[in-house]
Amino acid sequence: MAKVASLMTRATGTAETPDFETILNALVSTIMVISNDGIISYLNNAGEQLFQGSASHLTGQNINLLIPADSPILAVLKQVKNSGTAVSEYGLPLETPRIGEHLVNVYASPLPDHPDFVILAIQERSIAAAIDRQLTHRGAARSVSALAAMLAHEVKNPLSGIRGAAQLLEDNASDEDKKLARLIRDETDRIVSLINRMDIFSDGMPFEHEAVNIHQVLDRVRKLGESSFAKHVRFVEKYDPSLPFVMGNHDQLVQVFLNLLKNAAEATSGSGSEIVLTTAYKHGVRFAFPGSNSRVHLPLKISIQDNGEGIAKSIQGYMFDAFVTNKPEGSGLGLALVAKIVDDHGGIIELDSHPSRTIFHVMLPMDTSASKKIKKQ
Ligand SMILES: Nc1ncnc2c1ncn2[C@@H]1O[C@H](COP(=O)(O)OP(=O)(O)OP(=O)(O)O)[C@@H](O)[C@H]1O
Ligand SMILES: [Mg+2]
Repeated sequence: MAKVASLMTRATGTAETPDFETILNALVSTIMVISNDGIISYLNNAGEQLFQGSASHLTGQNINLLIPADSPILAVLKQVKNSGTAVSEYGLPLETPRIGEHLVNVYASPLPDHPDFVILAIQERSIAAAIDRQLTHRGAARSVSALAAMLAHEVKNPLSGIRGAAQLLEDNASDEDKKLARLIRDETDRIVSLINRMDIFSDGMPFEHEAVNIHQVLDRVRKLGESSFAKHVRFVEKYDPSLPFVMGNHDQLVQVFLNLLKNAAEATSGSGSEIVLTTAYKHGVRFAFPGSNSRVHLPLKISIQDNGEGIAKSIQGYMFDAFVTNKPEGSGLGLALVAKIVDDHGGIIELDSHPSRTIFHVMLPMDTSASKKIKKQ
């Protein structure tokens, strides 16, 4: 405890440099330092508010006083203690009689040079924000699958009957009526081809999983963009050269990133248009899906950032739904397809949109069958 106290006060306050304690107390996240035997050694102001107790009362107490013994947060602390590496978990429940129910993101890390302590950062997230972040695209993926299945069964079959009947009528009709019968046939063909485009959304189309080099996917997508919809864009690549392979389907992932890149390019205009493609390996990032106790490890993070106008307020929260678009020529199927494919891969999409900075993060599972690392092409 003394060690940690000295850590906190090492930088003494001056007019220019606030001390560490002041900085930690200004944060909205809870910061705690916990010894390996579970004793709270430090708690910042945000922590006092979250746990509704003063730091002077809570320091020196056991963490079990604040966090129930069966909480996944304690499992995270244990994991950090055992592995010696930092762990982040999103969307964990924190439920105690004292503070009620909260949904939190947790980051826990060993303290370099202080092996007997773990630092724990807890960020509260409103349940609405969590659902928005994790579930919009999953919900959209499910509803679009149901829609596709309905279209295939309830609409396509009767349409082939209508088309056949129109064709029979056409054979025996007067010239005038032939034109109308042909119109019926052509328009039914047009509807059938639209429904066929939706087929890709229906469930039950198994696809092969393989080890995919995501940089190859991004290069292909970028080249396609540069020769068509993204001619006006300057690309910046920030790739992690030692990124492992993604577990997925190459062609479907091309589709995902093509749609995201096309949207990013369409959101920008003029000579200052820029798209930043980033890949990163996020160690220890796991996601808890509401309704399930298991947490999935999605360490590969691929981000597409543009400096366009941002997502229009009117469609925020809906843009993964099919047919949601604010473009005159848009079908509104691009992001619905992204949602469906990422969901099929067991991945997650996060979205961060502000004017001049919209980022889609796609988190995907790693291929564990091979320990190959990929090189930037
Ligand atoms: N990077 C982005 N910046 C701003 N708005 C975006 C971005 N990506 C998506 N959107 C918004 O989300 C809507 C839905 O996107 P989606 O890709 O599903 O359809 P679309 O691009 O309109 O049509 P399509 O992809 O079929 O050509 C877009 O119309 C746009 O308003
Ligand atoms: Mg699109």
